[in-house]
Amino acid sequence: MDFLVSSNAVESLNTSALVLTVNEQLELDSQGQQIDALCKGAISAHLKAGDIQGKLGQTLLLHNLANLKAQRVLLVGIGKDAELSDRSARKLVSAILNNVKSLSIKDAALAFADVKFKERNAYSSARLIAECLADGLYVFDQFKSEKAPAINLSAITFVCTSEQQEAVEKACLQGQAIASGMAFTRDLGNMPPNICHPRYLAEQAQELSKQHKNLSVEVLEEEQLKELGAGALLAVAQGSDQPARMIIMNYQGADDKTKQPYVLVGKGITFDSGGISLKPGAGMDEMKYDMGGAASVLGVFKTLTELQLPINVIGVLTCAENMPSGGATRPGDIVTTMSGQTVEILNTDAEGRLVLCDALTYVKRFNPQAVVNIATLTGACIVALGSSTSGLMGNNPELVQSLLHAGKQASDVAWELPLFDEYQELLDSPFADIANIGGPKAGSITAGCFLSRFTKDYPWAHLDIAGTAWISGGKDKGATGRPVPLLTQYLLDRAQ
Ligand code: BES
Ligand code: MN
Ligand code: ZN
Repeated sequence: MDFLVSSNAVESLNTSALVLTVNEQLELDSQGQQIDALCKGAISAHLKAGDIQGKLGQTLLLHNLANLKAQRVLLVGIGKDAELSDRSARKLVSAILNNVKSLSIKDAALAFADVKFKERNAYSSARLIAECLADGLYVFDQFKSEKAPAINLSAITFVCTSEQQEAVEKACLQGQAIASGMAFTRDLGNMPPNICHPRYLAEQAQELSKQHKNLSVEVLEEEQLKELGAGALLAVAQGSDQPARMIIMNYQGADDKTKQPYVLVGKGITFDSGGISLKPGAGMDEMKYDMGGAASVLGVFKTLTELQLPINVIGVLTCAENMPSGGATRPGDIVTTMSGQTVEILNTDAEGRLVLCDALTYVKRFNPQAVVNIATLTGACIVALGSSTSGLMGNNPELVQSLLHAGKQASDVAWELPLFDEYQELLDSPFADIANIGGPKAGSITAGCFLSRFTKDYPWAHLDIAGTAWISGGKDKGATGRPVPLLTQYLLDRAQ
């Protein structure tokens, strides 16, 4: 599906469906009024007759309007708010898509030039709409014998003013690139764990690098990880038949190849059974998405290479499968991390921090401007923040602020949790330098504290996406593609 942008007069648009908005006062915007005048008030006649109330997401389809080149007009309600929130925007898009899908419409034009979004200008409104439209067309039916019905929609045109044109074109390009990164992330998260194992993630990274000259990929195998002293990552993998992998992606977009890179580190547990500290059976299948951090880094690289942003970015995917076996780590085992610090593994289900800590030590060699790690790290984060907000912690207030801001801009929000020193002592171990769990209190924060022991040499932040990367149970079960929008926005802001 393509996005087109046109500042031609609405009435001249030759389209299968012209989409107009109406609010709860039954008012059309200026583009709508133009159309209504052209077809001699046919639309306002429907409004007067009470055919639609303008409630958010309500739709009315009109055919054969006089003097219009458009085959149909689709009226959509935008509610009573003077300004649409992001949530309302999503509802609006999903109402449009439901119609477009069920009517098998081949192209549509959105006359949204006047629609006001809370705290968004024309560019950022159009980007959100474009991203939601493209993401809303995502399907994952690879393993179904009967495929989802084909979607006929080949183009959506944004009808805007000539002043808005340039901004809206940029918005469409970026919104679509973000959605394509999200689709990649969603595919990987939805993929079954018998297929999506650490070697599969390595192949995906390599495949992407083949398509782009300025992206190179290096895959560290267990032999090399042993030499590097990645004792924590290897300890997690040792109960599984799948070998660990550390995958390093190097995107050089800046003219100056030596410019300090931004570094993204993703947790890539392709299945988290808990290990010897085995998880309960119910819902364990969902732990295939415990590589959501790594998948989001791959998604961001897809977006990044499509947009060819002029910055240098390193992505590190730290991958293993966490399984119980006769060779698995036991509660009580002590391992030596790449940093030299020793860790007492009190719970083998707190494995994310173990695979991350060695990657966080490894990335020092890149002399990073900033390091952001992304991980489905703690169930406690879902308890604290639910499924709409990612947890954020860090050692550098400026970096934390930039990420919070990027999240708001991209409608992919995060909220900061404190990494006060007082929490650090919860990780004391009588036998090693650190324990890998901090007891029942403040579980997301103690996980952050654990990571902070390995990130003292650079500005660092940690995104806990346990609640946001996946929708549990129900009919919408599956990967969400988050936090690709947040991370892309952060990088777009750096590229300015
Ligand atoms: N991958 C899980 C965290 C998780 C739980 C993500 C539920 C998404 C949904 C992580 O490896 C884990 O098991 N964490 C433990 C930590 C505990 C043992 C300290 C948890 O959250 O229970
Ligand atoms: Mn776990
Ligand atoms: Zn895990």
